[in-house]
Amino acid sequence: MGAWYGSKATTGLGQAIVGLMRPHDTYIETHLGGGAIMKRKPPALRSIGIELNARSIGTLCCDYEVELVHGCCHRSPADYPFEGSELVYSDPPYLMSTRKSQRRYRYRYGDADHEALHVDETGFRVDGKTQWLHVATDGALTLKFVHLKRGGEAIEDIGIIPRYTGTLVHDCRGAYFVYDQCNHQLCGSHLLRDLTFIVDSNGFRWARLMKKLLREACHRVNRSDAKTLTAAERRAVRKRYRTILT
Ligand SMILES: C[S@@+](CC[C@H](N)C(=O)[O-])C[C@H]1O[C@@H](n2cnc3c(N)ncnc32)[C@H](O)[C@@H]1O
Repeated sequence: MGAWYGSKATTGLGQAIVGLMRPHDTYIETHLGGGAIMKRKPPALRSIGIELNARSIGTLCCDYEVELVHGCCHRSPADYPFEGSELVYSDPPYLMSTRKSQRRYRYRYGDADHEALHVDETGFRVDGKTQWLHVATDGALTLKFVHLKRGGEAIEDIGIIPRYTGTLVHDCRGAYFVYDQCNHQLCGSHLLRDLTFIVDSNGFRWARLMKKLLREACHRVNRSDAKTLTAAERRAVRKRYRTILT
């Protein structure tokens, strides 16, 4: 087999992945590695491979023409002028804690890069019917899917949340809470919106104070180098939170 860790060049796996691909004109493969999938799939009109490791880029042999991009895929596809006939395949490095070997890739992600996944969905009209745009982002990569449904059926078809084991940030919809293999965090923007509604409609003081607390905590995190509250700041926020509610 001669494949390196994480390669999809194992018996049958590459072909199985290629078999799941929908028709497309342009194929974009991020985290190209050894290009196991690129090499196994039929050529698209345009094929683009993105990889951070120069050595992988330099040794790729494919039977058809591939535009190779040596760089970080968090930047490159972000400015690509998507038209709708593209297929993007991404095979990022696995979480270190899920791997037996700790020293396989020259470029990999730290656990912090996998920590939070923000998800949301918004309705829009397609041919006179409501469909749903599902978005999942970790701040670096953003994936968007259009689906006829909003809730559990779409989540299962898209297949990201059922496999995700980090912290899922969402708007408190019941369909998300079905998944207990991940942690759950309520989205601060949605909470602020709910609090604004309560303040505007009822003028409750507790909601006004809670809005202030949430905003201040958020600004403090944004201003800090570590992008988190210190233990002492966390304690102070918790204390104010309890005081507001009692
Ligand atoms: C799981 S491997 C890909 C294996 C590949 N699908 C195959 O079957 O040969 C992950 C690859 O992502 C690359 N990588 C890590 N961070 C990256 C980044 N920010 N941009 C592009 N490539 C990256 C690593 O160098 C590694 O080659």
